[in-house]
Amino acid sequence: MKILVVGSGGREHAIIWKLAQSSRVSKLYCAPGNGGISDLAECIPVNVNNIEGIVEAAKQIKADLVVVAPDNPLADGMVNVLEDAGIRAFGPKREAALIEASKVFSKNLMSKYEIPSAKYKVFDDSRQAKLYLKDTEYPVVVKADGLALGKGVIICNSPGEAEEAVTNVMEKRQFGDSGSKVVIEEFLQGTEVSILAFTDGKTIVPMLSSQDHKRALDGDMGLNTGGMGTFAPSPVYTSDIEKICMEKIFLPTIDALNSEGRTFKGVLYFGLILTEKGPMVLEYNARFGDPETQALLPLLKNDLVDVFDAVIDGKLHDIKIEWKNDACVCVIMASGGYPGNYRKGLRITGIDEALKDPNVVVFHAGTRKTDGQYYTDGGRVIGVTACGINMDKARERAYKAVSKIHFDGAHYRKDIGSNLPRVK
Ligand code: AMP
Ligand code: GLY
Repeated sequence: MKILVVGSGGREHAIIWKLAQSSRVSKLYCAPGNGGISDLAECIPVNVNNIEGIVEAAKQIKADLVVVAPDNPLADGMVNVLEDAGIRAFGPKREAALIEASKVFSKNLMSKYEIPSAKYKVFDDSRQAKLYLKDTEYPVVVKADGLALGKGVIICNSPGEAEEAVTNVMEKRQFGDSGSKVVIEEFLQGTEVSILAFTDGKTIVPMLSSQDHKRALDGDMGLNTGGMGTFAPSPVYTSDIEKICMEKIFLPTIDALNSEGRTFKGVLYFGLILTEKGPMVLEYNARFGDPETQALLPLLKNDLVDVFDAVIDGKLHDIKIEWKNDACVCVIMASGGYPGNYRKGLRITGIDEALKDPNVVVFHAGTRKTDGQYYTDGGRVIGVTACGINMDKARERAYKAVSKIHFDGAHYRKDIGSNLPRVK
């Protein structure tokens, strides 16, 4: 089989790394890919948002399957267009991807089908929003309706901050049309857990639980980032909590989407928060998470092609998805200055040395390869992943590998997967 993966980050490298282990795969392609991906797949220089370009590339290489990984092309209907062109594709169609692409849609869906989530109000007029903010409880969360590169959620501690958020999102259109509406919602407290699940629209199979460290600095300090590291499984996500989530969140979400004529096939990501009132949904994503995927796929026992096939063909109940009994930690090495300004083009050394431990995998996020050398090419540069019989062992191996890798100004958190909260 020839498979084309759309995307260019660490998540896509992890998907390709896993697909490369399948005996069913004869050749892998990635558009546009990155330095690390180019070691496993032929990279095609087509942007992820160029739907026509991707369809054309898939036809040219006679792809048997196209895996659409990032949020924007899913929201824009890349899977619809691929299928219309007779090309087999993995990922939700536009109608279903709306669960991530519109927070107003996802909040209204949860409200209609009684899926636990924060109390909220929707505004399409900034004056009305500001009026409401004068007389509400703080902190409060302001969310741009549409996709905003993961930056559209603003936690506000005072009316001044909240007003500024509304001005930036709705009036100055900091995130373009994504800010034509906002959701203003209650601030929830608890431990956040990511549950990614395979679903064919009838059956839903959650992967292992994972947790993402979003802040730039140790101890969850500093600015929000795309994610500085992840670990799986989460010690706070017990089987009792999983049962509650299945009954109150996962199955009701699949049913709700079906009832709305928006059957979801692909990976549905539940951003959960475990509150005193029980688990609630903070957000949905219509795709594999980044960097959660980098800590999950190394633990998956199945051939990923079999799982993708089962999802696409509506046969997920026919296969058994199995996981290793291990733990996995992914530490992101970022460019100095990230998530603010940072330099590109710095030479990366030591990856070969790090890979001498067979339990370690290095997933490239923002790199390029020139003349056999890797160079930095983005804010998040690489994700150093290691597995072990428990979290301590996995973390020790991951940090040992990190210590072997160098580029000028490299920044990483030292506490990924440590000081884990215990179940109350
Ligand atoms: P994003 O993944 O960009 O949608 O950002 C969501 C992040 O914002 C979550 O991971 C939480 O940390 C935070 N967040 C979103 N909604 C709430 C809420 N209602 N209460 C507390 N934190 C929230
Ligand atoms: N790790 C969060 C996301 O993929 O959106």
